[in-house]
Amino acid sequence: MKVIITYGTFDLLHYGHIRLLKRARELGDYLIVGLSTDEFNETKGKTSYYNYEIRKEMLEALKYVDKVIPEKNWEQKPGDIQKYKVDTLVMGSDWENSDRFTYLQEYCNLTFLSRTHGISSTLLKGNLIKEESKETATV
Ligand code: CTP
Repeated sequence: MKVIITYGTFDLLHYGHIRLLKRARELGDYLIVGLSTDEFNETKGKTSYYNYEIRKEMLEALKYVDKVIPEKNWEQKPGDIQKYKVDTLVMGSDWENSDRFTYLQEYCNLTFLSRTHGISSTLLKGNLIKEESKETATV
């Protein structure tokens, strides 16, 4: 069985996420998502709209995702790869020019998948805030 793993925050689950997960799952037979915890996001200066439990619940409902594990820090990847006998680590192409993950090639294959244009959690959050302020202005 070919095991694939990918990591991320997956806040306000959107079609960019779904397409990434679909293509990642198609690379193998079992897809694990390392989902950034709220505490880990805090260390990255990121606050998600939905908390970890809600983000996990949504990912677990997807047919492309077989298992969700917490991503608590940058250093856990080699341990995860060994524990789950991972064949391929998939990252979004946003990381392609970074050498942060290069060292993981000694543990498994490393594949970058292109991002979907025109959508991100940040964009959605911005739109939600704009909508909220429009509503407040009309009350
Ligand atoms: N992703 C993608 N296409 C997008 C947005 C995200 O393929 N339009 C991928 C990322 O490359 C990553 C995974 O989805 O592999 C999770 O990304 P995440 O950072 O959680 O999503 P973003 O929407 O990019 O969130 P943010 O705006 O907070 O960076």
